[in-house]
Formats: sequence, structure tokens, C-alpha cells
Amino acid sequence: MQVKKAVIPAAGLGTRFLPATKALAKEMLPIVDIPTLQYQIKEAVDAGIEEVILIISDAKKDIIEHFKRNEAYENYLISNGKQKEAEAIKQIATMAKISYVYQHEMKGLGHAILCCKEAVGNEPFVIILGDDLIINAHGDNVSKQMIDIYNIYHNSIIGCQNVALENVNKYGIMSLKAPMENRIALLKDMVEKPDIDKAPSRLACLGRYLLTPEIFDILKDAKPGKGGEIQLTDAIKVLAKRQDVIVYDFIGRRYDVGDKYGYVEATIDFALKRDDMKEKVLNHLKEILLK
Ligand code: UTP
Repeated sequence: MQVKKAVIPAAGLGTRFLPATKALAKEMLPIVDIPTLQYQIKEAVDAGIEEVILIISDAKKDIIEHFKRNEAYENYLISNGKQKEAEAIKQIATMAKISYVYQHEMKGLGHAILCCKEAVGNEPFVIILGDDLIINAHGDNVSKQMIDIYNIYHNSIIGCQNVALENVNKYGIMSLKAPMENRIALLKDMVEKPDIDKAPSRLACLGRYLLTPEIFDILKDAKPGKGGEIQLTDAIKVLAKRQDVIVYDFIGRRYDVGDKYGYVEATIDFALKRDDMKEKVLNHLKEILLK
């Protein structure tokens, strides 16, 4: 079965980014001038996804506003000679078929995914975490890479990369059935945010999943795990006992833009890649370094 749907969970509270996220969705914080979520949706579209399901909360209406067409504003921009800007805001609303699912209580990522059961139906789907930005400047984006692997093996896939040992306690960490071959291995077990001395590896789950619909039956019966939340990690562990789950070491640079430092990193790197900003930003950085 083809992978046609992507789910983007964006209902979390974003406590790591307070106070900015008191009334603003962290997924809407811009990297220079494009909200993170817009990059995520573009990733899905570029990977061939036909429908994007956004998980939001009642507090995140700014997301709906951003992706809704606003013809009055487009016309205003056109009548003021700003065709390029008009086209840019039109494109936001027309680039994908977007539907919304509400998560009314923040009970964790596993619970957020369960909220999409009806919207996804009985098909495989990609999950793109709303605050993990992954850029592959030299080829297919990470969602496309994972869909290509799915089309060969038809198993669930967890996107991962090695992280520094001091950071393993921030992620779901995996152990493998056998060493990686061609960036692929089978998942043996997974532990959510392990203590540094208890981590089975440095292989961390970094914000991309491609799951078969069996995950919903597992999530339905899932009990709260670490932090009192329903953890997607716990459900994936159960899935791996029932069927093969692939761990894929994806190609791309990942930014945790839900973290203040990751956000600054992404902002600098993205600005340095833009022709209209590169020189000025570089000069500014040089000035700072020479002080
Ligand atoms: P995070 O754990 O990074 O989001 O979840 P959070 O809870 O907002 O983070 P902090 O620690 O309080 O800053 C990863 C993604 O899953 C979504 C978040 O919006 C984020 O994009 N999420 C998380 C949900 O949609 N619902 C939840 O209950 C939890």
C-alpha cells in the first residue's frame, strides 16, 4: 500500500521555549521568515504525500490561520505591487491538502498519534515531529528516504542518528538486532530518555517515523509511561515484538527547533544559506569573533 498521508503532531505545550510559547505555537516560530511547520509540510509534499494531518490543540489557532487562504490580503498585496509576496502567501494555503485533528489534553506523543486513528485509517503513514527540522541539502528529504525504504520492505521505520553520549537522556534510544548495513537494521528494543550510564547505544529517534496502522491498536491499550505520558516509544516496542521494525540512519542535518539553542543554530545556518542575507550575517559573525 502506498504512503499517502503524513501526520504532524503540533499540539505540545512547548514549555522549553517559554515565554515565547505562552500564546504562540512553537511550531510557528520562524526560521528567518518561514515557520518551522511550513518547512515540515513542504517536506511531506516533496516526498509525494497527498494529505497532511496536523494535530493541534485549541490554543493553536494561529496554525489554522497561517495555512488558510486569505484572498483579501493577496489582493491587497497585488494592488500594492507586491506580486511576489502575494504569491508566497497564496502558496502556503495551496501547497497541500491539510486537515486538522484536535488533541484536547496533552497526554503525550503516543496519545497525539492515537487522536489521528480515524483520519489516517488503515494505511501506513509518515510522522514528522513539529519541532524537528531535518534538511538534506544534497538529495531526497528524510520523509522521501523513508518512503523509498518502505516501498521495498513494507515495515514500520524509525528515523535515527547517533547523538553525543551526554544527550542520550533527551531521546528514545534504540538497540539493534544486528549491526547496521546500508544505514538499515532491525529494532530490538527501545528506551525513552535513558540515564546516560544505562543507554543501550547512542542511536536516537529523531523526529521521523513511518508506521503501519497496527500502531493504533497498540496505542489504544497503552498505559502512561515515562513522565505520565502515553509514549509512542512504548507502543513501538510492542510493535517490534509483533513485526519487524526498521531502524534507518537517515541522511540530513537535524535541528531541534523546540529547544532554544537548536533554534538559534537553525536560524544562523538558514540565514547563511540565503543569498539575500549570507554576506551581512557572515560579516556580523566575523565582527563578533574579532572583538
Ligand atoms: P515535545 O515533547 O518536543 O513537545 O514533542 P512539547 O511537549 O511541546 O515540548 P516541551 O518539552 O514542553 O518544550 C514533540 C512533538 O510532539 C508534539 C509537540 O507539539 C512536538 O511538535 N506533541 C507532544 C503533541 O502534539 N502532543 C503531546 O501531547 C506532546
